[in-house]
Amino acid sequence: MPDKLNIAVFASGRGSNFHAILDAISAGSIPDTRVVLAVSNNSEAGALAVARENGIPAMHLSQKQFPSEELFAEAMAGALKDHGVNFIALAGYMKKLPSAVIRMFPGRVVNIHPALLPAFGGKGMYGIHVHEAVIAARSKRSGATVHIVDEEYDHGPIVLQREVDVAESDTPESLAAKILPIEHRIYPEAIRLFAEGRVKVLGRAVTITGER
Ligand code: GRF
Repeated sequence: MPDKLNIAVFASGRGSNFHAILDAISAGSIPDTRVVLAVSNNSEAGALAVARENGIPAMHLSQKQFPSEELFAEAMAGALKDHGVNFIALAGYMKKLPSAVIRMFPGRVVNIHPALLPAFGGKGMYGIHVHEAVIAARSKRSGATVHIVDEEYDHGPIVLQREVDVAESDTPESLAAKILPIEHRIYPEAIRLFAEGRVKVLGRAVTITGER
């Protein structure tokens, strides 16, 4: 039996992916899983409001509150331990997680990215910039990717990916609007695979067992 997932969601913005994860948990689509903590670098983040509305501890934690990166990482690690976290889902988190925190949860930190990684990822590729780059490159396909987080931006191995067509008439905004509902589907789906113990990570290789 896989361990129960005790998730910390990290988010900087409105939190619609966070919401989608909570909806899937309440609908019973992700077994043995709870979100036990929400963390944001932004005290105004919609994601913190989503947490409070759902009775989930909401924590504003920013590097700016600490004199050094080490103390920041220590405080973050302490909060994760205190809440019994064993899995992290980044959902629009605009900061890099401290390496020490990533190393606490090998193969158990995931992120959602609004493009088909490894294309259109990396530093500066966030929010509308991703979709601007896809349109500027005249790509015919884009989509969303859930991947495991390592110490480089948008670099870890891919767990799930889904594609959409990019139309001639698409703008960065229309493309973002087309991809967001896909994110809301595949993120809970990917977390379900972990909750069912079906994701095996070996270095950069991800295997999904019991594929249906
Ligand atoms: C999503 O597009 C996600 O892929 C990206 O940031 C956005 C967050 O949106 N990493 P939300 O806060 O979940 O609504």
